[in-house]
Amino acid sequence: MCGIFGCIMKKGNAAPVIHASLKRLEYRGYDSVGIATLTNGEITIKKDQGKIDDVHKLVNLDDMAGNIGIGHTRWATHGAPLKVNAHPHVDCTGKIAVVHNGIIENYNELRNELENAGHQFVSKTDTEVVPHLIEEAFKKNPAWTLTEAVIDTIKKLCGSYALAVISTKEPEKILCARNESPLILGIGKDASYCASDLTAFLPMTNKAVLINDGELVTLTPGKYEIKRIQDGSKVVREPKVIDWSPEMAVKTGYPHFMIKEIHEQPATLRNTLRAQEHYLDLISTFLDRATEVYLVACGTSYHACLAASYMFSKLAFLPTYPVYASEFVEQHGKSVNIDSTILAVSQSGETADTLGAVTCSQQRAATILGLTNTVGSTLTRVSRVYIGQQSGPEIGVAATKTFTSQLSVLAQLALRLSTKRGKVSQDEMDYLAEKLETIPQVVETIILTQEEKVKALAKKYKDAKIFFFLGRGINTATAFEGRLKLMEIAYMPAIAFPAGESKHGPISLIEPGFPVVFICPKDGVTHKTLIGNIQEMKARGASIISIIEEDDEEVKAMSDDYIEIPKGIPEVISPIPFIIPLQLLAYYMAIERGINPDMPRNLAKSVTVK
Ligand code: F6R
Repeated sequence: MCGIFGCIMKKGNAAPVIHASLKRLEYRGYDSVGIATLTNGEITIKKDQGKIDDVHKLVNLDDMAGNIGIGHTRWATHGAPLKVNAHPHVDCTGKIAVVHNGIIENYNELRNELENAGHQFVSKTDTEVVPHLIEEAFKKNPAWTLTEAVIDTIKKLCGSYALAVISTKEPEKILCARNESPLILGIGKDASYCASDLTAFLPMTNKAVLINDGELVTLTPGKYEIKRIQDGSKVVREPKVIDWSPEMAVKTGYPHFMIKEIHEQPATLRNTLRAQEHYLDLISTFLDRATEVYLVACGTSYHACLAASYMFSKLAFLPTYPVYASEFVEQHGKSVNIDSTILAVSQSGETADTLGAVTCSQQRAATILGLTNTVGSTLTRVSRVYIGQQSGPEIGVAATKTFTSQLSVLAQLALRLSTKRGKVSQDEMDYLAEKLETIPQVVETIILTQEEKVKALAKKYKDAKIFFFLGRGINTATAFEGRLKLMEIAYMPAIAFPAGESKHGPISLIEPGFPVVFICPKDGVTHKTLIGNIQEMKARGASIISIIEEDDEEVKAMSDDYIEIPKGIPEVISPIPFIIPLQLLAYYMAIERGINPDMPRNLAKSVTVK
């Protein structure tokens, strides 16, 4: 997730406006920043790694001439957060500049073709192919307009993008386009803006035009023209007047970051599923060769590891050991060795306990692999290979969207490894890969259809003394994560166990009305045994809250309350959809109990002490 901004004004300098607008987009990414302006037939660029304020101190982002320009605040996906990778990117001649938010999946092929045609690349980004493709289009068709060259380019791109382009060839306009990354226009009296979200331009204008996938926009001062990329047909869309306060705008209308990030999951999962093939391949090769594999993490990331241990075992027949990072050195510090492989999972890439386990393992010559949301973090620097999960910055203290992204990368890895090892039939692999692709849509449906029901649940159970979460198999991890969310965000005491363990002690806590949440997917062998566990709890007067598939009449009939998930989810990826209602439950429970879910007491987003 990055932030893009473009501005074209009748008069005055665009740079200070772009700078101030990028500040408002900084929540979308903050590892590097850059601005390009256009004046007197020349493009000027200032960019560097670091936060906007730090870069501004170094280069003065306001001091750039030109009434037209584009800017970018970056959250690295391809290429480390370095000056050379910061946007805007330009073609060989420096006459075309581009900012981009999204992921261009086929950039490797495009880059190879362009390099063979003589284009010089300077960065490691996927974005850089765009200005070169536009340049190439002009080379082949010198009479083309900028619009024609940009349309030709866009038709070659696979993946997601919100793009803004300026060129000295037609210096009086900005072109922008969208596919699966947000893009919105702001229309003022004598100026027009394009941005990743309306927060960026709200202080200048409250007239906004939403851009849809497959649309190209030409911006001139105070005016805009929208076309469909596919057939060039014109789209007529009037601006809407937005009456959000600036504070609401930062959260795109949501009252808290946590609920915003829960709602972002269909989009973040789509992004994550585009994770770089090359790195998935590399990591699965390392895992295939490994003698012993530890999955090391803290908190929510540990729960992703726990789920992953079932995925690797079921799909690739690879035993892996999930370990709390804070326990790793004590438990395995003496035995870890050159034959060990550590897959460290950390959203921030800076968690002290996780890095401690990594350092200890490195000293004993183990292989370190990483999965993180923060390219450029310590974990990416100490890993032999790492995958950036591409969820964008997570501002709410509770990990939500980053958890489901971790699960989807880990599922992709398990599928890769399974293919390599030939342990599961091709038909089953294809089926699972297809099902994984549908998960963003499934998550969208759950949020759309179940949120009100979860809200009502939170009202009903807000004064409970304690909550109990039970799941079996891979959904033991979902139960653990549901408990953690409810405890940390709503301060609700909660316990979680593999359902089979409940009768070995915890069941003695049960009193009439005691809420017990069962995570109950229908696929797999755990369903039958879980029904037995529900009966045990029901017989003792517990209130049964079940998370079930929509046609699970048997469990429905036994439940006091239930939340429904679309049917047909393979068990091995079920934690991704099944955690969504539990994230919502924690959020609405916090609201019911008068707690700010974005600022849980005693917690920090990144725990950099042991
Ligand atoms: C819970 C939560 C924490 C983190 C944990 C590890 O909502 O966010 O439990 O998961 O502190 O953080 P990372 O993944 O950054 O290593």
